[in-house]
Amino acid sequence: MDPENTTSVTVLGGQWGDEGKGKVVDLLSAGVHAVVRYNGGHNAGHTVKFADRHFALHLVPSGVIHPGVRCYMGAGMVVDPTALLAEIDDLEHRGVRFDHRLMLSGRAAIILPTHQALDGARERARGEGSIGTTGRGIGPTYQDLAQRRVLRAYLLKEPHRFAVEASMLMEAHNRELELLYRVEPVDVAGAAARLEAAAARLAPLVGEVGPPILEHVRRGDSLLFEGAQGIMLDLYQGTYPFVTSSSCLPGAAAVSCGVPVAVLGPSLAVMKGYVTRVGGGPFPTELSGETGNHLRDRGHEFGTTTGRPRRCGWFDAVAARYAARVAGLDGIALMKLDVLDDLEELRIAVEYRLPGGGTCSEPPDDPQVLATVEPVYETLPGWRSRTAGLLDEKDLPARAAEYIRFIEERVGAPIVLVSTGPRREETLTRGDTVLARRLAGLIAGGSVREQP
Ligand code: IMP
Repeated sequence: MDPENTTSVTVLGGQWGDEGKGKVVDLLSAGVHAVVRYNGGHNAGHTVKFADRHFALHLVPSGVIHPGVRCYMGAGMVVDPTALLAEIDDLEHRGVRFDHRLMLSGRAAIILPTHQALDGARERARGEGSIGTTGRGIGPTYQDLAQRRVLRAYLLKEPHRFAVEASMLMEAHNRELELLYRVEPVDVAGAAARLEAAAARLAPLVGEVGPPILEHVRRGDSLLFEGAQGIMLDLYQGTYPFVTSSSCLPGAAAVSCGVPVAVLGPSLAVMKGYVTRVGGGPFPTELSGETGNHLRDRGHEFGTTTGRPRRCGWFDAVAARYAARVAGLDGIALMKLDVLDDLEELRIAVEYRLPGGGTCSEPPDDPQVLATVEPVYETLPGWRSRTAGLLDEKDLPARAAEYIRFIEERVGAPIVLVSTGPRREETLTRGDTVLARRLAGLIAGGSVREQP
């Protein structure tokens, strides 16, 4: 195996999630042989729009929409069997043919209905300090994984054994729900019957994902590793404790799939031209007034998974530069530039002023300090003309081009792709780095790729 032969790319969120990864992965999937999702569960919501079709994917890698692309779900994922089946059924109903293209790692962790109940109960118990989780049972499942009692997907191949082991764990969860949180227990017998039926249907998807991924590498295939959530929601490097429960960083893809990091290729972080966040936690550049509402309305900033309105704010180059450092980013895909078209001026946070005096150029590790920093802004003039739908960098208004260059310089990573609208085709590529050339090749490959 020679990783140098691969044309892999790792695509991940560069902010607090919801950056538009679905569109980027979909765009690049047209030219790849396989897409690998490596973390999280159905807390994610990846939206893909093309022609008059609109898909919201939560678990299945976005590449599945392209016929012939193989899809893998890594061991670092947490999977609710019922949610996965519902998503597969919905996609099939809408004309997506799976043709044995989807494989789920036997080592992935299984979310049970009691994990979801615990997620809700623990959030309520946190009160003011609640994280604002998606309520899908993600945290309690990763907690059971670390506690070494979670059920893993290989059990789906033995539905009866799976139902028995799931019942035992659900009974233990029910005791916690009743005694600690004083909430109604989950009906274990009913849940176990549904899980057994789901297991029987999902069993053929389960396998060891490392060997087929390495086989792709040996053949010189193009692979796309797809991360969920975002760098600032990473369990280790994000704004802890207001984070998700998995690692979203590129290296997590290797851990999740059991493959060397060398096969992951360059990393591309997706970031919006502004920032959004759902749930609790510090957000230094948050806008509460008219401009925040404008961004929310114009950018349709409501959650794909929960429908919650997203908090909106100016582009935060302090967080983005930190993200570029901890993830070793090779490039950025800048999304939703067109949402900024009407603004008179734009602000970008370039430093944080600390409550006790002085400034810092990286987000502090202490959430109490991060919650009280004041962003130091640079102000740039708005372009007040239409970038929506532009396909060529040369057509960008001069001030929009200046905004892009400013971000790139402050963050320290090249912006290789700019999105000017929700549709697949409303995208332009720029620059001449290895990553930029690889992306241009993948996008172009899409138009010539043979559809079986
Ligand atoms: P959990 O992942 O459901 O436990 O939620 C933990 C935090 O991550 C909350 O602030 C969620 O809003 C956030 N989060 C989880 N998944 C996503 C996502 O796909 N997009 C944006 N935020 C997310």
